[in-house]
Amino acid sequence: MNKRASEVANGRHVAVVGAGLVGAGWAIVFARAGLEVRIFDSNEKIAAGVMSFIQMQLVEMEQYDLIDDPSSVLKRLSVSPSLAHAVQGAIYIQESVLERVEIKRDVMSQLQSVVARDVVIGSSTSGIGASRFTDGMPIAPQVLVVHPVNPPHLVPVVELVPSPATSEAALNFAKEIIASVGQSVVLVNKEVEGFVLNRLQGVLLREAWSLVQDGVASCEDIDKTVRDGLGWRWAFMGPFETIDLNAPGGVADYAIRLGPLYQSIAASRTHESPWQDDLIRQVETQRRQKLKVKDLAVRRDWRDKILMAFARDRRKWLEAE
Ligand SMILES: NC(=O)c1ccc[n+]([C@@H]2O[C@H](COP(=O)([O-])OP(=O)(O)OC[C@H]3O[C@@H](n4cnc5c(N)ncnc54)[C@H](O)[C@@H]3O)[C@@H](O)[C@H]2O)c1
Repeated sequence: MNKRASEVANGRHVAVVGAGLVGAGWAIVFARAGLEVRIFDSNEKIAAGVMSFIQMQLVEMEQYDLIDDPSSVLKRLSVSPSLAHAVQGAIYIQESVLERVEIKRDVMSQLQSVVARDVVIGSSTSGIGASRFTDGMPIAPQVLVVHPVNPPHLVPVVELVPSPATSEAALNFAKEIIASVGQSVVLVNKEVEGFVLNRLQGVLLREAWSLVQDGVASCEDIDKTVRDGLGWRWAFMGPFETIDLNAPGGVADYAIRLGPLYQSIAASRTHESPWQDDLIRQVETQRRQKLKVKDLAVRRDWRDKILMAFARDRRKWLEAE
């Protein structure tokens, strides 16, 4: 049983540094779990707009039964005028600034001069190991990657990736606070590029690009294969549990029956990376016939509404299990 977020925070607040798409989502995650959140963004326009963006999200979440009272969640959130104000006295800091090593390193060095030595700092980075922006810095033991999926308030998984310098205490605290706010914690033992989630996604995308390149199927039919096939089970169980249930004798039996097929497919994929310009143009043409660039934002809203309905219903199914 996870501890409650308020017990973990022990009267202190959480700071969110960087209030773009991901930072705003994190702010909702912490505040809906009952924590006080201070937000800081160095871009004044973003800082000025983030509360109304969050308010709109909260109102929609209420419509999908994902929160009871948007105004009480909103009351726990505030925008700070400076980094120092946001982080002073915080128990945990979630860094969500731009995905550039030098920017993250600069933020870490600013944090180093203002935060206490017991504060844990999680970085939302999608693929940069924490050692690349904390190497040689006294703050390194307090920092690790805490990588969400976008938007964090609708998709629960979070990868925790310690650097070789991250202290065990910082890792344990990050596990505790992220689990206490209702997210699903995955521990990545080593700093590998892309962590686990993007490595898995990368393998699937590599094959998807290659299938288009080889003229095996259209983009639409490949999307359909995942949307109407593979993805159905993957929404509530992973690939190992899937194959464990797909052979009468479980996973070892599955490996005997289908292992040779997968090995043969892997051996046939020897050519270079399919992320080539002409192939990207081909896929872009197919996608733009389905959806114009000007309609992407509307489709993203549609996606987020489906995610909200899905989050509501999934919770009911899993609770009933
Ligand atoms: N977008 C995604 O799908 C996704 C998913 C998971 C993780 N991430 C990671 O989350 C992080 C943020 O991504 P995003 O998509 O929210 O980007 P974004 O561009 O929407 O937001 C980044 C914000 O950081 C602010 N910022 C830049 N420098 C700053 C500084 N020194 N101090 C304070 N604020 C600063 C910017 O003004 C901007 O508002 C990145 O590391 C990204 O890789 C993104």
